[in-house]
Amino acid sequence: MSTYDDIGNGTALVLIHGFPFDRSQWMPQLEGMKDVARVIAPDLRGFGGAEEAPETMTMDGYATDVKDLLDRLGVDQAVICGLSMGGYVALALLAKHPHAVKGLILCNTRPGADSEQGREGRKASAKKIADEGMGPTAEMMVPKLLAEATRTSKPEVASMLKAMMERQRPGGAIAALRGMAARPDRTPMLPSIAVPTLVITGELDTLIPPMESEAMVAAIPGSELVVIPGVGHVSNLEDPQAFNGAVRKFLGRLA
Ligand code: MLT
Repeated sequence: MSTYDDIGNGTALVLIHGFPFDRSQWMPQLEGMKDVARVIAPDLRGFGGAEEAPETMTMDGYATDVKDLLDRLGVDQAVICGLSMGGYVALALLAKHPHAVKGLILCNTRPGADSEQGREGRKASAKKIADEGMGPTAEMMVPKLLAEATRTSKPEVASMLKAMMERQRPGGAIAALRGMAARPDRTPMLPSIAVPTLVITGELDTLIPPMESEAMVAAIPGSELVVIPGVGHVSNLEDPQAFNGAVRKFLGRLA
């Protein structure tokens, strides 16, 4: 894992990006939280400036990379925050290295594995990316990722997100699609999660509807849910103020 941001002082807060993004997804959090935390945002393998991914990049593989980075940085314990695919990685990290996790922030994500239909969809997406590159996929994903209100009132967020997806390497995205299709169901581990957990979602997330976040909170002892009004799947970019506010409150309680 060769490229990452590491800024600020305090509790280590690791931000794990979604699919098919890179660490620039977290720009508003790096800036908005560096006064209260040591904010570490890596590019997952195959994305951004990170090294090439193998043919399939499992969620465990990404989690191992994140843990290796923490070891290199001398960080024993961190609050692990992941959005969507980043949340799958956060849960994999907790399963493999529970002692490295001081708290969890699960954003616009789900614990379950893909359905058979979901896996077929991943195959079709991988083929589309292999045949056509990232452009058409980026174009198609923007309206699914962002609430309509975000697209009209914050067009700069839509263009930033589209450009971020367009510049990803097809091989990295395909490796992630294969890894997500192969990921296990983490639902059984939820009742045994013993670290403070915050779940954040967007009221208008259609990719992972808020109902799924409610179910996750019901299953994780002592966890809390923040539903950000008017936003979709990329809550940290769509309403950074509300997102950062929820995270700051959570970190404040942990301290
Ligand atoms: C993401 O935003 O990371 C993706 O929607 C996750 C997924 O495709 O399951």
